[in-house]
Amino acid sequence: MTTIKFISADGQSVRQVEGRPGDNLLSLAQNDGQPLEGTCEGQMACSTCHVIVDAEDFAKLPPASEMEEDMLDLAAGATRTSRLSCQIWIDEKLDKLTVRIPGEAHNMQGR
Ligand code: FES
Repeated sequence: MTTIKFISADGQSVRQVEGRPGDNLLSLAQNDGQPLEGTCEGQMACSTCHVIVDAEDFAKLPPASEMEEDMLDLAAGATRTSRLSCQIWIDEKLDKLTVRIPGEAHNMQGR
């Protein structure tokens, strides 16, 4: 089992979720009740599955494809360690991966 840590947008709630190799990070988050819409169901056409990966864990992930990078450019509140969770599949290397759910767009702007 691989443990993934989800931190809520306000930092108040931390959830440790067990995933199996091959699980999709978006599905794992949604099954745990995390507020990620994932409207396009992994087609890289919406960016509502965007999560912010802990800076220390970012290098554990395989690099984003060009298409993913393009979608991240459009994601509200994206940072340098943002990824689309629908493009991340769990494997043992990702044990203890920490990701944060982005805040609403209006909370992230103008600060
Ligand atoms: Fe739409 Fe990930 S679910 S880009």
